Amino acid sequence: MVRVPRWPGWRQAATASLLVTASPLVAAYNLDPNSTESVTTIAKQMAEDMLSWYNGDKPGGTPGLLPDPYYWWEAGAMMGALIDYWYYTKDDSYNNLITKGLLFQVGDTNDYMPRNQTLTEGNDDQGFWGLSVMSAAEYNFPNPPADKPQWLGLAQAVFNTQAARWDTKHCNGGLRWQIFSWNNGYDYKNSISQACFFALGARLALYTGNQSYADWAVKTWDWMVGVDFIDKYWRVLDGAHTGPNCTDITPYQFTYNAGGFILGAAAMYNYTEDPVWKDRLDNLVEGTKVFFTGPNNDIMTEVACEPVDRCNLDQQSFKAYLSRWLAAITKWAPHTYEVVMPYLRASAVAAAKQCTGGKNGRLCGLKWTTDEFDNNTGVGQQMAAMEVTLSCIIKDRGPPVTNDKGGTSKGNPGSGGSDVGRNNPKGPSFKAITAGDTAGAAILTVVVLLGMMAGMVWIFLDETSDKTPMQQVRSFHNLTAAQIAAVAAGGGGAAAFWKRRGEDYDEKTGATVGSISERSSRSSAENNMMIETAPVRIGEVRNQGASNPRRLSNMPLGWPRNPSVRASSTFESGHVRPISGTDLDGTRPSSGTGSSDLIPKRPRATVRRR
Ligand SMILES: *[C@@H]1O[C@H](CO)[C@@H](O)[C@H](O)[C@H]1NC(C)=O
Ligand SMILES: *[C@@H]1O[C@H](CO)[C@@H](O)[C@H](O)[C@H]1NC(C)=O
Ligand SMILES: *[C@@H]1O[C@H](CO)[C@@H](O)[C@H](O)[C@H]1NC(C)=O
Ligand SMILES: *[C@@H]1O[C@H](CO)[C@@H](O)[C@H](O)[C@H]1NC(C)=O
Ligand SMILES: *[C@@H]1O[C@H](CO)[C@@H](O)[C@H](O)[C@H]1NC(C)=O
Ligand SMILES: *[C@@H]1O[C@H](CO)[C@@H](O)[C@H](O)[C@H]1NC(C)=O
Repeated sequence: MVRVPRWPGWRQAATASLLVTASPLVAAYNLDPNSTESVTTIAKQMAEDMLSWYNGDKPGGTPGLLPDPYYWWEAGAMMGALIDYWYYTKDDSYNNLITKGLLFQVGDTNDYMPRNQTLTEGNDDQGFWGLSVMSAAEYNFPNPPADKPQWLGLAQAVFNTQAARWDTKHCNGGLRWQIFSWNNGYDYKNSISQACFFALGARLALYTGNQSYADWAVKTWDWMVGVDFIDKYWRVLDGAHTGPNCTDITPYQFTYNAGGFILGAAAMYNYTEDPVWKDRLDNLVEGTKVFFTGPNNDIMTEVACEPVDRCNLDQQSFKAYLSRWLAAITKWAPHTYEVVMPYLRASAVAAAKQCTGGKNGRLCGLKWTTDEFDNNTGVGQQMAAMEVTLSCIIKDRGPPVTNDKGGTSKGNPGSGGSDVGRNNPKGPSFKAITAGDTAGAAILTVVVLLGMMAGMVWIFLDETSDKTPMQQVRSFHNLTAAQIAAVAAGGGGAAAFWKRRGEDYDEKTGATVGSISERSSRSSAENNMMIETAPVRIGEVRNQGASNPRRLSNMPLGWPRNPSVRASSTFESGHVRPISGTDLDGTRPSSGTGSSDLIPKRPRATVRRR
C-alpha cells in the first residue's frame, strides 16, 4: 500500500500543543507529555501510521496477521497496543479491527495455537496474544458476541496450555522457547516465555482471585531466580539451553524481558500486598535504568542492539512493551508512579521528536536518543513511539478491573481443550505418518536434503567476500566435515534456504528497514558455540573467528568492512548500570549487554518474499 503523502500540519495547527514549523519537511511532533490533548492527537497519528503496515482489515487480508517479514506474535502485540490506544484515547475507531484480529487467530481450540503458525509458534508468541486478551478483560474492552470465545477465557486457555508445558526434566523447570519439539529453539529456555507466563498468571490471579494462578507465578519466579536468569543484580538475562542444564546463559538484557517480570511482580504485589513482592518490583524497576541513556540517562534505549545498529525486526518493537508495562504498574503499585514517570515522559518527548520520516514526514525511527530520524521505520518503531507517548497520561485513566470490581469478561477455567499438553501440532501437514504416506515421505526427504544442500552453499557464502560465489563454493573444501555436519544437524542448512538477505527496502515508506536479515537462520547461536562463548564487551560486536569462515547471521550488510556500520562510539559503559564487583563465577561478562548473536533465531515456516 502506498500512503498518500500528507502534510501533517493542517489539523495540528489548530491545536496549540503542536509546533508546526514553516516547512513540512522539518515538521516534527512536539509532544507536551502533560497535555492529554497533545498526547492523544499525536498518538492518533502514530496509530494511523502503524496500521499502514496492516492489511488484515482490507479485502483479501487476513485479520490478525502482519505482512511478511513480521512474525505472527507481533500482530498479537500490536492488537494489545491498539487496546491500549483505545484505553488511553477513548477513540474506538479500531475496536472492530482489534476484535476481528483477536478472534480470527484463536485456532481450533480457542487458545492461540492456530494451525498456520505451528511451524514457528513459541510459548512467547502465544503469550503475547494471551497478554493482549488479558488487557482486553482488564480494561473492559467491549466483549465479543456471546457465541464467540471471550477475552478472559482465551487468556485462561493460553495459561492452561502453557502450565501443562512446564518442563521439569531439564533445568528443573521452566518453559521451553518453542512449543513443538522439532522447532529450532526447542532446546532453549528463554526469559520472555517465562515472563509472559508469569505476568499472565499474576494478572489472572488478580482478576479472578484464583490462587492457583498465583502459585504458578511464584513457581515461575523462583525458577527464574534459581537458574540465575534473574541474577543477583536484578538483571533479567535472555535465556539458556537445556543441553548444559541452562548454565550457558545468554547474557544480554532486553527491555521486554525486564518489562514482563516488572508487570507480573506488580500484579503479584497488588494481589498479595506482600512486601516481598514490593521489594522485587522496586529492585527490578531500579534495574531498568540500564535501558535509559542519552544526555540525562532518561531516554529508553534497546541497549543490547540499538547503539550498534543490530536490532532485528522483533527487537525493534521491544521498547513498546517496556513502555506499556512501566505505565501499567503505576496502577497496581501506585508508589512507582513518581519513579517511572520522569523516564517515560522524557522518552516520549524524545521518541516523538524524531518522527519525521517517510513520505508523510512523520514516521518514527528506532532511536530516540539522537533527536534525528534514523531512517529505520516499521511496525515496531511506530508501536513503541505510540505506547511511550500514551503512557504519559496513565494518571488520567482508571485502574484495571477485576471479576469483583467491574469486570464483565466471561472466564472458562478449563479452557485450552485438546491443546493442553500437546507438543505435536495437528493439521493437514502434520497428520501421523501411515504406511500410505511413506512413499511421499521418501520423496519429501530427498527434496529436503536437496534444499539443505542448497542452503548450506548459501549459508557459507560470504556477502562481504571479494570472491565470486563459485570461487567461494570451491573453497568450501576448507571447511571441516564436522562444521558442515553441525550445520546440517542443527537444521541451519534448511533454515538458511529460507533466509532473507541484506536490508529490505520498504516500498511503503521509501525507507530502508535496517538490520532485518536472516532471522530464520538459527545457525549463529546454535552451531557456533566456539565463537559464541567468548565474552562480549559493551560497544563491541562479535565477529567470526578465523576458524569460522561464515559471516554471522545478523551482521549488518557490509560488516565489518563498512566503517559506517561499526559500533557507535556513543555506546559507553558509563551508561550502563554500575555493577558492584565482578562476577566471581566467570560465566558472564560483567556488562550483561551487547549484541544479540547468542539468541537462537526463529525458525521460518515458508518462503515468503515481498
Ligand atoms: C510535566 O509534569 C511533571 C509533574 O508535574 C513535571 O515534573 C514536568 O516538568 C512536566 N513536564 C513538562 C514538559 O512540562
Ligand atoms: C491460514 O492460512 C490460510 C492460507 O493462507 C488462510 O486462508 C487463513 O485465513 C489462515 N488462517 C489464519 C487463522 O490466519
Ligand atoms: C540443573 O539445574 C537445576 C536448576 O538450576 C538444578 O536444580 C539441578 O540440580 C541441575 N542439575 C544438574 C544435574 O546439574
Ligand atoms: C482455579 O484455576 C485452576 C487452574 O487453572 C483451575 O483448575 C481451577 O478450576 C480454578 N478454580 C476455580 C474456582 O475457578
Ligand atoms: C492495587 O491496585 C488498586 C487498583 O489500581 C489500587 O487502588 C491499590 O492501591 C493497589 N494496592 C496496592 C497495595 O498498591
Ligand atoms: C537517512 O537517509 C538520508 C538519505 O538517504 C541521508 O541523507 C541521511 O544522512 C540518513 N540519516 C541517517 C541518520 O542515517
